[in-house]
Amino acid sequence: MTSSVAAPGQTRVATVDEIRAQFPALERRHHGLPVAYFDGPGGTQVPRAVSDAVTEYLLHHNANTHWRYPSSRETDAILAGARETLADLLGANPDEVAFGANMTTLTFHLARGLGRGWGPGEEIVVTELDHHANIAPWRALERERGVTVRVVPMLPETGQLDWDALERALSGRTRLLAIGAASNALGTLTDVVRAVRLARGTGALTFVDAVHYAPHRLVDVHAIGCDFLACSAYKFYGPHVGVLYGRGERLGAVDIPKLEPAPETAPERVETGTLNHEGIAGAAAAVEFLASLHSGGSRRERLRAAYAELDRRGLALVQRLLEGLGVIPGVRVFGPPAATARTPTVAFTLGDRHPDAVADALAEEAVFVSTGDFYATSVVRRYGLASRGGLVRAGCAAYTTADEVDRLLAGVARLARAR
Ligand SMILES: Cc1ncc(COP(=O)(O)O)c(C=O)c1O
Repeated sequence: MTSSVAAPGQTRVATVDEIRAQFPALERRHHGLPVAYFDGPGGTQVPRAVSDAVTEYLLHHNANTHWRYPSSRETDAILAGARETLADLLGANPDEVAFGANMTTLTFHLARGLGRGWGPGEEIVVTELDHHANIAPWRALERERGVTVRVVPMLPETGQLDWDALERALSGRTRLLAIGAASNALGTLTDVVRAVRLARGTGALTFVDAVHYAPHRLVDVHAIGCDFLACSAYKFYGPHVGVLYGRGERLGAVDIPKLEPAPETAPERVETGTLNHEGIAGAAAAVEFLASLHSGGSRRERLRAAYAELDRRGLALVQRLLEGLGVIPGVRVFGPPAATARTPTVAFTLGDRHPDAVADALAEEAVFVSTGDFYATSVVRRYGLASRGGLVRAGCAAYTTADEVDRLLAGVARLARAR
C-alpha cells in the first residue's frame, strides 16, 4: 500500500531529506521563509501517504461496516488491517487494539467502565507530571464512585517523578496506577517498566499514557507489562484518531458503557458508535510510513530500526537545542538535565517575556513553537508559571533539521538581545 521511503534493498534508514520530501506542509512559506514546525508535541505534520490513504478510503471504499456489498466488506478489511498495523506499532495482538476519537475520550470511557467496579476505600494513583487527560478521567471517579485519588509529585529540579513518593502511594488499596511514559511539556521519559512492576506488586491495574512517547520510542506493551495503554495517531504523523490497548481479555472484561446491539466482543465493544474509518485508514498509513523508513524485515523490525535511528537523530537535535538555549541570557530551560534520557521536546522561558510574545516573534521568522500549559496543567502550576503564560515548547520531529534548530536559536537570541 504505502511505497517505501527508504530505497528498496537498502538497510539504512531514510535520510532527513528523503523524509522531508514526503511532507507537503514543509513547502509552506511564511513571510517568504520556509516554515520550521516545532509544534510536533501538539500534533505532527502528515506525509502524503497518510492523506492519500484518507482520500482513497473516502472516495473509493466509504461505507458502514458488516454489510454484504463490496464497499462495506472493503471497510471491514481496512479496519481489520489497521488493527494489525497498529498492533505492530504497540507490540500487541490485533484484538487488543481499540480505536476512538482521541486519547482523552478513550480514557474517560475506560475510566468510567473500570470505575463501575470501584468504591470508597479504594484508590487510584496518578502523577503530577501527567497531561490532564491522564488525571481528570480518574479524578472524575472520586465524585462518581467515592474512590480516593493520590497524586505522586514530580521533582521540579529535574522534571522527573518522585519515585519514593510513588512507592509510598501504592498499597493494597490501589486499584489502578495511571502514569505517563513521557511528559508532553518537559520531554521527561519515565521508566514505566519499573512503575508498572511496582504497581503490579500491589495487585493494581496499570494504565500508561503513551501519547508523547509513541512518536519518539517504539512502544512494547509486553516489555512494559501494563494492562492498558493509549496513544494518538496525530502525534506520530497520522490523522486525529486515538488508540487504546488492553492486555489479553482486559478489553473484554471492562464494564464499558455500550449500546445493546453493538458487538459484545473485544475490541469492538469498546468502540462506541461508528468509528472514524478514514482516520483509522490514515493512522495505519502513518505506521506504514514509519516502517517504510527502513527497508528490511517484518513491519515490527522495520519500525524498530526506524525508531532507533529517529531517536538518535532526535537526541542530537535536542542536545544542539539545549546547548544553544543554555548560552542565551535570560533563557531558563525546564525539565530533565542534559544527557538524561528524554524525548526531543524542550520547554523554556525567556526572562519575564510572556511565552506568547516569544512565539509571536518566532512566528514572524516562520518558526512555529507552542506556548501555554499544553494541558500538563499540574507541571506548569508546580513551576509557578500558570499565571505567567506557562512555557514555550519546541519539539523536534522526524522532519526537523539542525538548520531549523539553529533558526530557532537565532530567533530566541535576537529576542534576548532586544530586551
Ligand atoms: C502526553 C499526552 N497525553 C494525552 C494527550 C491527550 O491526547 P488526545 O488529544 O488524543 O486526547 C496529549 C495531547 O497533547 C498528550 O500530549
